[in-house]
Amino acid sequence: MTKITWKSIIPSCYKTKSKVEEEEVSKHCSFQRLCLSDVSITSSPKDIEDLSTSFVGSKLYTFTLEELKEATHNFSWSNMLGEGGFGPVYKGFVDDNLKRGLKAQSVAVKRLDLEGLQGHREWLAEIIFLGQLRHSHLVKLIGYCCEEKNRLLVYEYMPRGSLENQLFRRYSSSMPWSTRMKIALGAAKGLAFLHEADKPVIYRDFKTSNILLDSDYTAKLSDFGLAKDGPEGEETHVTTTRIMGTKGYAAPEYVMAGHLSTKSDVYSYGVVLLELLTGKRVVDRSRPSRERSLVEWGRPMLRDQRKLHHVMDPRLEGQFPMKGAVKVAALTHKCLSHNPNPRPSMRDVVKTLESLQDFDDVFIAPFVYVAVSEKK
Ligand SMILES: Nc1ncnc2c1ncn2[C@@H]1O[C@H](COP(=O)(O)OP(=O)(O)O)[C@@H](O)[C@H]1O
Ligand SMILES: [Mg+2]
Repeated sequence: MTKITWKSIIPSCYKTKSKVEEEEVSKHCSFQRLCLSDVSITSSPKDIEDLSTSFVGSKLYTFTLEELKEATHNFSWSNMLGEGGFGPVYKGFVDDNLKRGLKAQSVAVKRLDLEGLQGHREWLAEIIFLGQLRHSHLVKLIGYCCEEKNRLLVYEYMPRGSLENQLFRRYSSSMPWSTRMKIALGAAKGLAFLHEADKPVIYRDFKTSNILLDSDYTAKLSDFGLAKDGPEGEETHVTTTRIMGTKGYAAPEYVMAGHLSTKSDVYSYGVVLLELLTGKRVVDRSRPSRERSLVEWGRPMLRDQRKLHHVMDPRLEGQFPMKGAVKVAALTHKCLSHNPNPRPSMRDVVKTLESLQDFDDVFIAPFVYVAVSEKK
């Protein structure tokens, strides 16, 4: 297959500061999605035509650094929404005055930290994946900026921020069970969509800080910097030598052998489900040593109804349907199987969670959380 260079895809990188009128990087078309592997970072430039026949159904805007400065009050500290491995994310505002044809809206602008560990490849991955994949449970990419070494991404703004902030923020009120289940279902639908694409996509970095929430708690996946095209043909996995992702969320076969598959995403999904059930972070050094790894501590109790109350988030104060919780716990247990084969597909996860959304069950009475003291 011919390689398409990123230079041909993103022409403005080479015409910094000049007005590139080619704002519409991608156009609606019925051709197959361009894979990350089709795009070479180093090979020589090739026709922009290749791109227009490869990007499917999206319109990306090219911004200048100046425009994004304007949109974010000069990347002011007070506009900062969060920060991950790529760099800081700022709230901004764009409209027709900034770019012709652009809808007036709040945006999130992610700026590459030039001193950081990530770089051009992750930036490009976000454009290749999010620029082409459109779904109600994936965050919308509006555009990008590429000037000299600067790399930025502009997304729709998600008013409730990340699940990490909502679930673990110290002074926030507890998230009700129904909201947790709505988020679990939305995120599962996003992952299922990626896994079932014509060319399956492995998300690779599924975790609470990459799940963003709309005002009504609709979950959307963001941060495709580490996403990867899935195996082709009969292959069950792709093998990688560099293990990337986040400690605690990565599947055992990926950490140990570099085997990456859609089932490794299912494991990470199971970790997030466990965090939703327990209200605890997957890794927390401040916890007692036997509870430090949430999976090792919680997994054995997930299939035992009598022990389930040890696992459930005490901040729920018992306000959850017992039958529903038992089913979600069993599903979590399956997702967290050490061996990838018994893990369910994300489609199966969606089906199970859909059957639980309006679970008509009596809520059990508030219970007192009893911390079992270790007797020596
Ligand atoms: N579209 C957005 N709307 C609101 N907050 C966002 C948005 N995108 C990112 N954030 C915030 O910034 C954090 C880091 O963003 P992310 O895309 O995960 O960056 P990284 O690739 O560096 O991990 C998120 O956890 C979230 O708190
Ligand atoms: Mg992130």
